[in-house]
Amino acid sequence: MAQLLQLDASPRRSRSHTRTLVAEFVARWSEGRPGDRVIRRDLGHEPPPHITEDWIAAAFTPPSRRTPPMRAALAYSDQLVDELFAADVLVLGVPMYNFGVPAMLKAYIDQIVRVGRTFSFDPAAAAPYTPLTSGKRAFVIVGTGDAGYETGGPLASMNHVEPYLRTALGFIGIDDVEFVYTGNDEFGGERLQRSLERARNRVADLTGERQAAEVAG
Ligand SMILES: Cc1cc2nc3c(=O)[nH]c(=O)nc-3n(C[C@H](O)[C@H](O)[C@H](O)COP(=O)(O)O)c2cc1C
Repeated sequence: MAQLLQLDASPRRSRSHTRTLVAEFVARWSEGRPGDRVIRRDLGHEPPPHITEDWIAAAFTPPSRRTPPMRAALAYSDQLVDELFAADVLVLGVPMYNFGVPAMLKAYIDQIVRVGRTFSFDPAAAAPYTPLTSGKRAFVIVGTGDAGYETGGPLASMNHVEPYLRTALGFIGIDDVEFVYTGNDEFGGERLQRSLERARNRVADLTGERQAAEVAG
């Protein structure tokens, strides 16, 4: 039995293409694996707080020397990190905002990429940073108003969502990451429908591929 962590970063509700596709992903996944547990965190509607000076001071103080107020400053981050550790699979719905991730998702990343919890730092080591998570897989569904942000596409050089997420997730040990794109939201009509259809097919492939691989294994 696996645990799936669903993270939706769009502030839109029924109009959100990433929410719709993430919901489809989770439904397909759960259909094939009814024993799996799904944890949902709605970053779009309940954005994590930005980190503060107290948070930084607490995070860089060894746990044994943390005061009660320091522990309190990190309580929310600890909860998010515990939730991340408990997850085997992450599914993220990510609207592209001004070529990068929305602030709500950036705030989440700032809460979970944490020294001593999700990565370690040893200034004397040849490789000073070591990721502290392993064995996780992530699926990222990106929604864009234009199209062509995928590798090799005409707007690929303007895509700061995928390189950023690959770097931040890889830094804490999540290297197995699949991206699914749906575009053309600004154009609507046929163009949007074709894009959504392609993304839907990819979601079907990815959820089926995983299930088939597990049955075979
Ligand atoms: C504040 C804002 C910034 C946006 N920036 C971009 C952008 O840089 N590139 C782009 O192609 N679309 C951009 N869009 C369009 C969204 O990426 C698009 O509407 C996407 O479908 C949003 O995801 P959602 O449908 O899950 O809400 C932007 C939309 C908003 C509201």
